Amino acid sequence: MARNSVLQDFLDAALAAFDHVAQDQNSRRSLAQIAANLEAPQPARTGIAKRLPVCSRLLDGILATKTGQHVLDRLIERFEQLEPMLEWKGRSSHDSSASENFPTSHANALVVGPGGLEDRRDVWLGATLMAPNVRYPDHDHAPEETYLVLSDGEFRHGDSGWFAPGVGGSFYNSPGIRHAMRSGEKPLFAFWALLPDRPKN
Ligand SMILES: [Fe+2]
Repeated sequence: MARNSVLQDFLDAALAAFDHVAQDQNSRRSLAQIAANLEAPQPARTGIAKRLPVCSRLLDGILATKTGQHVLDRLIERFEQLEPMLEWKGRSSHDSSASENFPTSHANALVVGPGGLEDRRDVWLGATLMAPNVRYPDHDHAPEETYLVLSDGEFRHGDSGWFAPGVGGSFYNSPGIRHAMRSGEKPLFAFWALLPDRPKN
């Protein structure tokens, strides 16, 4: 089975960019397994494309941003080509840790993963965008996760304080760790790559 070339080109650019920026040894191990899993395409869903109002407000500006780093700009370009095929969704639940404007001010797109464009269970890879001055709720999940941040914005995990990885920043979330993100005066845009079944050593 061949993968749609727009999706394949995006995945190639995403894996190259994640690999370029990841410092954490856990991220590097996780990303190597994610790349290996993605070598085998799975069926893609069609006709799922959907933008939320927050996407229409923010995406053009976000995707027009040039980072000056070739590997990141290529990822943004390839995402722009893929984006018309994606289904953007709001998070289904949140608690009082989220800002009041959260429900209408964020969107997540799952490129690969359960219910994503390529519907599979062994890798989750997608993006989150948030309008300015939005706080994503504290949340956790069993899969380990590596972030690739492409905007301003702050993050925290476990007992850490808020930190700003900056454009091209990357960090690792261990399985089950509580984490969150918040935007400041500018929109937040980040990719994440999750590995549900970490191989046992
Ligand atoms: Fe997460």
